[in-house]
Amino acid sequence: MSLKKLTKAVIPVAGLGTRFLPATKAIPKEMLTVVDKPLIQYIVHEAAEAGITDIILVTHSSKAAIENHFDKHYELESELNLRGKSDRMVSLEEITPKGVRIVSVRQPEALGLGHAILCAEPVIADNEPFAVLLPDVLMYHPRKGCLAQMTQQYKKMHTSVVALEAVAEDQVEKYGIAGVKGPDMRIVELVEKPKPQEAPSNLSVVGRYIFTPRLMELLKDTKPGAGGEIQLTDAMDQLLEEEVMFGFEFKNGHTYDCGDKQGYLQANVEYALRDAQLGKGFKQYLKGLKF
Ligand code: UTP
Repeated sequence: MSLKKLTKAVIPVAGLGTRFLPATKAIPKEMLTVVDKPLIQYIVHEAAEAGITDIILVTHSSKAAIENHFDKHYELESELNLRGKSDRMVSLEEITPKGVRIVSVRQPEALGLGHAILCAEPVIADNEPFAVLLPDVLMYHPRKGCLAQMTQQYKKMHTSVVALEAVAEDQVEKYGIAGVKGPDMRIVELVEKPKPQEAPSNLSVVGRYIFTPRLMELLKDTKPGAGGEIQLTDAMDQLLEEEVMFGFEFKNGHTYDCGDKQGYLQANVEYALRDAQLGKGFKQYLKGLKF
């Protein structure tokens, strides 16, 4: 059976966001803003840039704000029209990229990332590859988004592709680390939070994946692992035993872990500095700070 084209992306947004409490008690973590847009909007645009046309949000009853953000808001739009505020209208029209459809499925309980992805199974065909983007990881690149670069690689190989980023060697304990082989970076092992002396490399798994359909099959049989959750890594370990999987090293860009307060603050500062309207003034303000 030949594989269908890569057109779908799963974005899991049903987690509890406990690292960011109290902010995330009533506001979904994925709706926290970086400058003037919620995190989820950046991620949806990164997927669209990669040619994704169908986005599946795996969501939870407490996270309706995310679906509302991508829905039409008639009252607001007609009010802006009446008041002649067309520039603000444009910012609303840009929320959902042209040609992209967003659907949602529910994960009733936060049973882990692997379980969240499995909740999207009814909307992905048996022979269909799919991308996964973690919405709290913001990946900036001055020319081409990370998923768009990975898609180029996928189109040549038709195997699973996992984004990797080099981290300082004494930082490997914080991440999932991939052992790779050869110039094409074939992944040979995945190790969760290894001690620096035991790490197979300093390449961390950063939250962008393209999977062959087999991953979804394997998730169905994955038993709860660490923390009683169904772990994506466990299903990926299985996939490694059956299929070739390549790493894609994300270079010349910057990754921000916005699920973490420090990473989130850095993202806000650096995106503000890059902003065409705000950047100059904000830079001067920062330079003048006396702390
Ligand atoms: P994280 O572990 O970073 O998010 O999962 P979390 O659980 O929301 O946050 P903390 O650790 O408690 O602060 C990565 C992504 O996977 C989603 C989360 O919403 C997040 O976007 N996720 C995680 C689910 O959708 N379901 C889950 O069961 C777990």
